[in-house]
Amino acid sequence: MVKYFYILTYGCQMNVHESEKIAGILKDLNYEPCNVIEEADIIVFNTCCIRENAENHAYGNIGMLKKLKAGKRSLIIAVGGCLTQQMGKASGLHKKFPYVDIVFGTHNLGKLKDYIIKKRAQKKAVIEIEEDNGEICEGLEPYRTSYPNAWLNITYGCNNFCSYCIVPYVRGRERSRRSKDIIKEAENLVALGYKEITLLGQNVNSYGNGTDDISFPELLRRIANIDGKFRLRFMTSHPKDFSVEIAKAIADNTKICKSVHLPVQSGSNVVLKAMNRKYTVEDYLEKVKILKQYVPDCSLTTDIIVGFPGETEEDFLQTCELVKNVGYSSAFTFVYSKREGTVAAKMKNQIPAEVSKNRIMRLIEIVNSQTREQSAAYVGKVIEILCEGYDDKKQMYLGRDGYGRMAYFASDVSHIGEFLNVKVEGANGISLACKKVEI
Ligand code: SAH
Ligand code: SF4
Ligand code: F3S
Repeated sequence: MVKYFYILTYGCQMNVHESEKIAGILKDLNYEPCNVIEEADIIVFNTCCIRENAENHAYGNIGMLKKLKAGKRSLIIAVGGCLTQQMGKASGLHKKFPYVDIVFGTHNLGKLKDYIIKKRAQKKAVIEIEEDNGEICEGLEPYRTSYPNAWLNITYGCNNFCSYCIVPYVRGRERSRRSKDIIKEAENLVALGYKEITLLGQNVNSYGNGTDDISFPELLRRIANIDGKFRLRFMTSHPKDFSVEIAKAIADNTKICKSVHLPVQSGSNVVLKAMNRKYTVEDYLEKVKILKQYVPDCSLTTDIIVGFPGETEEDFLQTCELVKNVGYSSAFTFVYSKREGTVAAKMKNQIPAEVSKNRIMRLIEIVNSQTREQSAAYVGKVIEILCEGYDDKKQMYLGRDGYGRMAYFASDVSHIGEFLNVKVEGANGISLACKKVEI
């Protein structure tokens, strides 16, 4: 009889890709994917703890499985990801949800297969969290679900310790994969027909630091040199490490998308210092200038946190000013969330929720009006998009152009995985309404 798996993923692209690796492990154990959670024989939660609501989301969903488990004793429930890796959270999780069978962390994902086999043979739960030992787990074959895009890890962990951020505590120290492994994987992906490769790391710009391997811009160039038509993207860039060489690599290689995610976090030097971001507003604007000098039409996206401890109205207005000056094509905006164990959690002057809420609303208004303006400027143009999927609700195909702008169009036949030209007929905020162009 066929056995089924169901994976719930929270958090960033790193986790999305790790869920593909988990799916690979489950396929290896002869489980097949299913679309209905009630049909699953094993359910895996890949959790995130970047903000409190991500954490609560995971708890809420694990809580809902109590009933399911009571009606199906053979069901295996496994919880992994960043949340379990937080100090003391793994045992706490099991106390709170005694029906969870397996708890594993970010550093022992490669052992999930053994844990499942162990659990099948015993009644007792398997709770295994390991600390970062500097190693990289190579050789896990992902079961990819994001065609025509393929995620590709280049670094793991983070050394930056931004004062608000939990990632360095749950993902360990930064380590880079060997360039020959990365390039080989990229070559395979192109040979398999993937049309977009997105390089992943908490701070891709510092790839290769502390090793005698090649630098990030060199890695970009070598991957862009692989034969075949595909797009190359990367995330995330840390402004302090964004260099002229990276800008030049983008300018020199048409396969590298002219779209950079460069999280600024705040437009106030006082706040940036308290965040331990290691750059000033002036440094940031200088990096933007360098990028625009080499790639004038490059689109920029960013992440911004409002309500960081001690943020004054004046600090916030400086953030608004910076957003207006840079002209982002879109931005992720977050209300600061206190993370136990980080430096900022101990700071005085935590900002009241209603103040942060008011600030984020004002910021979102500015970001949205910029996004709308940029989308409107597309109307009438013909753009090349990579068709990525079908939106059931809209009953339209969707894709993005090289700058990252989302486009929707109708078609009777599937174009998923194809590059095609579309004419922009209208703009709806962040996305474009398009029509196929026959050429
Ligand atoms: N490594 C990436 C992404 C980290 S997480 C980077 O350095 O940019 C993605 C975003 O979540 C961050 O850029 C930040 O804006 C936001 N974030 C991280 N910790 C947060 C916290 N405690 N509260 C609110 N937002 C947070
Ligand atoms: Fe977190 Fe900063 Fe590292 Fe990004 S660079 S993961 S925000 S500590
Ligand atoms: Fe969340 Fe971990 Fe990513 S905390 S944002 S899943 S690295």
